[in-house]
Amino acid sequence: MTRTLYRILCLVGVTSSALHAQQTREAPLSSRRASQVADSILRLMTLEEKVGQLNQLPGQGTPTGPHAPQGGEALVRTGGVGSFLGIFGADYTRELQQIAVQQSRLKIPLLFGLDVIHGFRTIYPIPLAEAASFDSTRAEFSARQAAIEATAHGITWTFAPMVDIARDPRWGRIMEGAGEDPYLGSVMAAARVRGFQGGDKGVGLGATDAMLATVKHFAAYGGAEGGRDYNTVELTERTLWETFLPPYEAAVEAGVATVMASFNEIGGTPAHENDWLFSDVLRQRWRFKGLVISDWGGIGELINHGVAANRGEAGILGIKAGIDIDMSDNVFADSLAAAVRSGRVPLALVDSAVKRVLRLKFALGLFQDPYRFSDVARERRYTLAPEHVNAALTAAREGIVLLKNADKTLPLRKDLPSVAVIGPLADDAQSVLGNWAAEGRPGEAVTVLAGLRSALGASARISAVRGAPVDTVDTTGFAQARTAAAAAAAVVLVLGERQDMSGEGWNRASIELPGSQRDLALAVIRAARSSTGGASKPIVVVLLNGRPLAIPELAAEAPAIVETWFLGSQHGKAVADVLFGDYNPGGRLPVTFPRATGQIPLYYNHRNTGRPAEANNHYTSKYLDLPWTPLYPFGYGLSYTTFAYSNLRLSSARIAAGDGLTVSVDVRNSGDRAGDEVVQLYIRDSVATVAEPVKSLRGVRRISLRPGETQTVTFRLGADAFSLYDRQMRRVVEPGIFTIFVGTNSDDVTSTRVDVTGSTKVLAPTTPRFR
Ligand code: BGC
Repeated sequence: MTRTLYRILCLVGVTSSALHAQQTREAPLSSRRASQVADSILRLMTLEEKVGQLNQLPGQGTPTGPHAPQGGEALVRTGGVGSFLGIFGADYTRELQQIAVQQSRLKIPLLFGLDVIHGFRTIYPIPLAEAASFDSTRAEFSARQAAIEATAHGITWTFAPMVDIARDPRWGRIMEGAGEDPYLGSVMAAARVRGFQGGDKGVGLGATDAMLATVKHFAAYGGAEGGRDYNTVELTERTLWETFLPPYEAAVEAGVATVMASFNEIGGTPAHENDWLFSDVLRQRWRFKGLVISDWGGIGELINHGVAANRGEAGILGIKAGIDIDMSDNVFADSLAAAVRSGRVPLALVDSAVKRVLRLKFALGLFQDPYRFSDVARERRYTLAPEHVNAALTAAREGIVLLKNADKTLPLRKDLPSVAVIGPLADDAQSVLGNWAAEGRPGEAVTVLAGLRSALGASARISAVRGAPVDTVDTTGFAQARTAAAAAAAVVLVLGERQDMSGEGWNRASIELPGSQRDLALAVIRAARSSTGGASKPIVVVLLNGRPLAIPELAAEAPAIVETWFLGSQHGKAVADVLFGDYNPGGRLPVTFPRATGQIPLYYNHRNTGRPAEANNHYTSKYLDLPWTPLYPFGYGLSYTTFAYSNLRLSSARIAAGDGLTVSVDVRNSGDRAGDEVVQLYIRDSVATVAEPVKSLRGVRRISLRPGETQTVTFRLGADAFSLYDRQMRRVVEPGIFTIFVGTNSDDVTSTRVDVTGSTKVLAPTTPRFR
């Protein structure tokens, strides 16, 4: 610790050991000690040094790794920058930290942020795939390990989890979230925050393997019209509260340290100037004590939105709305001090923002030891640590969803003499990592082809044929693919999207299989079938994609379909385990799969309307040219075994409004293999003062059962499970009949009813009204 700081800390009565004790006992974001330290430092700061703490600069790539941008190190010396984005490495973060604490006037240590979305060097499944596991413990564990690996490289802050609900699969960033459901989204959001931060409510912060998490993008970024990233979001206040806000709130409840503003506007107000979001909702309603960061360039973009005339004005709007740190835009750095001096921005606003930054630095223990995250030995120990790679494999297996398995095509026999592996993604090591793969390296990833080769060993002949490119139309490879399919004893088609077809800005106008892949698949399936003269030859489609795909022809023609998303470093190994039956798939769809792009938006928790679709009634809500139903519903996924549900029962057939309820069901593995079942509980408020969704997920449990084994699954529902926003936007439970559905997906359920009695129970009297 530097001498100046040591003196400051002594002044406020903090010594090193006391500091540590403080950090382990108290939730760091609200710690009184942190606040005192921040106050003491603040008193010593010039206005320029304060603004420096609110300035985050991006690193730049060099052959030896990321470095500070030109002039960046000089800025560290003058106190003109408080954090970096995209800089890591034990050695280099130590160098920069040295400059900060040895050469700057106040010796305030730096923060190093990075998008550690689904791993740092060991890559776990993309968040959408991890949501498909329906296993929040698994998601928490992956985040925990990602934090261990990332912090060992000097990273103190991740810009994750992204918790934006997505009902439009054209939107490329759907891969980065947990799908369409607010309940699943909330459970996953809280789990990932706990994982990154090393515990609930931020209590883990202060350990050298815990990092600050960021919930993003606040708010409703996933509602982009037409699925075009950054686009206008048009939604009602009700939808915002019911569907989009819950996962952010869950993250705040779990103690997330930072929140990132979103690029979009809602109702004409861009998030970066939306004081309603940051003040009324985040700080007042949810009592958030952490820090708000802009998204990259988001403050300056207020000019494009047409709400600021120039960067200076944009900066004023941003800080006034509640943005504390300016990511990569230099708007605060360029204009905030002048805005304070001219009286346009109260100094108190800047002071509060700076205090939040200092408090977080304190929470991480950086004032105690600025080099604690820059430890070469830890870096070596945890990079691709075997326990991380093993866990990435488990996570990958858990995210796989079996969509179709006609006539028990799968699992495949291991003694197959030959297999044709066909398709443009079969050996694509970059793609298996998925987008936002941080420092993940293709050379360290297992492709589907590599996974199959190692599972089959030398005795099987594997013919690998690309057949077609991913996204351009070219049929010249079809003939070779047909020949390989006809000659082999089994066919595995590996189709879908490259990793750069989803992610930020990677939106698609059509979610059908790109290029000639559908035609390739149909040609290969036909060739394989006709070569057997009627005897069956296993044909399996393995899909890689970062969003739902509309694949009606495959669903009709392919005997087996396995959804594998992008599963990270161990993708191919996990796929081989599933195809050969070493692992029984148990993942479920966290998002509805439409039949065609034209059905979008299509989500399970829609409202009933006055004229719900009926096949033989023209004047009902449907299409002329397509069924109204999805291809695969939310929560759907098969197994190599079967499960039987029985004895659905309630703790009581009647409860008073405001009371809880216990729901139990017996689930039996009725097949002949061990397997995982995802037991799902949905509720419908049948008659209410506002039209409610036809079903809302309120509980989920992934269980493992041996053949013949039965388990009683019990859900304890609180009053909130029965609540809605009434017409005054109060959170209430209204009396009436509620249907409780329990089952294996959102469509395939058994149900019972509970009578909620008494008068309306108000759980929360008001909701900040959008303005
Ligand atoms: C993204 C954020 C990300 C940031 C830094 C932005 O373009 O929207 O999600 O954290 O870049 O990489």
